[in-house]
Amino acid sequence: GKGNYRHFMEKEIHEQPAVIGDTLKSYIDPATRTVTLPDLGVDLGRIPRVSIVACGTSLYAGQVARDWFEQVARLPAVAEIASEFRYREPVLDPGAMALFISQSGETIDTLAALRWAKTQNQRIVSVINARESAMERESDGVLHTLAGPEIGVASTKAFTTQLAVLACLVIGTGRARGTLSPAREAELTSALIEVPARAAEVLEMDAALRAMAEEVAEARDVLYLGRGTAWTIAMEGALKLKEISYIHAEGYPAGEMKHGPIALIDEQVPVVVIAPAGPLFEKTASNVQEVHARGGRVILMSDKAGCERLAPLCAHTLALPSVHPFVAPILYAIPAQLLAYHVAVLKGTDVDQPRNLAKSVTVE
Ligand code: F6R
Repeated sequence: GKGNYRHFMEKEIHEQPAVIGDTLKSYIDPATRTVTLPDLGVDLGRIPRVSIVACGTSLYAGQVARDWFEQVARLPAVAEIASEFRYREPVLDPGAMALFISQSGETIDTLAALRWAKTQNQRIVSVINARESAMERESDGVLHTLAGPEIGVASTKAFTTQLAVLACLVIGTGRARGTLSPAREAELTSALIEVPARAAEVLEMDAALRAMAEEVAEARDVLYLGRGTAWTIAMEGALKLKEISYIHAEGYPAGEMKHGPIALIDEQVPVVVIAPAGPLFEKTASNVQEVHARGGRVILMSDKAGCERLAPLCAHTLALPSVHPFVAPILYAIPAQLLAYHVAVLKGTDVDQPRNLAKSVTVE
């Protein structure tokens, strides 16, 4: 049941500290700060590259993982839309890894892409939440997310647990390739171990997000901006808003705005900026300046220092707990989910069963 929550989506958002913690516990030893992966039927030290394939929110988890694979493990990686992947006829190295990500394990576009990848001599690894799915049966190796059943159509806890598993896979791959030192592995696993506690702190910010939602609920269009993995979280935030509140939203790389979409900016368009601390913060800050100069209303999600710096340029700021930049996409997904949730509640939509959508898409 929904317990004390109004919707399954709300309940599932609030379960995230617990289920992220459960998921991390099955791959990280907190005493040694090392990752242990099950046998995946592939030698992670020898694969030449990885193609990550999924749909929707699971694709966004894959897109974050793409950046992580390259930055942390120095493994060439691409993230591909499942319904486009095989028709594009990509050139794949025999013996490379094809990585599929799916909450349900049944999404037909992803399953068809998996079957096609097999014909191209790829090693098939899947990250799946459900048990005993078609994708699980057809993979060489499986990593499970321990999100538990997800009932709300909009994916929330499945996404953040996918990120948790993928972070562990990336760390394990970096170690196998010799591109990740033991000290750096300890640094990254320590950052992951902290995520459940920081996520619980974010859930305490519910009232501030409800106040931001009042402004967003009036809008016809909303822009979400970020750079690097925060760009992917911008796209995920926009997808959540679209699917449950029916407000048009776009997630865009902040630096690409001046090449077109900046023409959309006026006082009517809220601009949600995802700007965690890290090497890209200053670059994103200059994009906040651009939006402000054109009369845009910036809703900033950053840490305390970032919010203090940019407050004069923003209509609203949300100061999230400070975290290692590696894990920021996991943490920043949560306020994006809550914002969309509160907007949908204000709009009175059917939050758990939005129109035209199904939980598991089994037609092409
Ligand atoms: C968005 C959402 C969808 C799914 C997509 C893939 O909130 O839920 O975009 O992420 O349909 O589903 P799975 O992960 O079951 O393959």
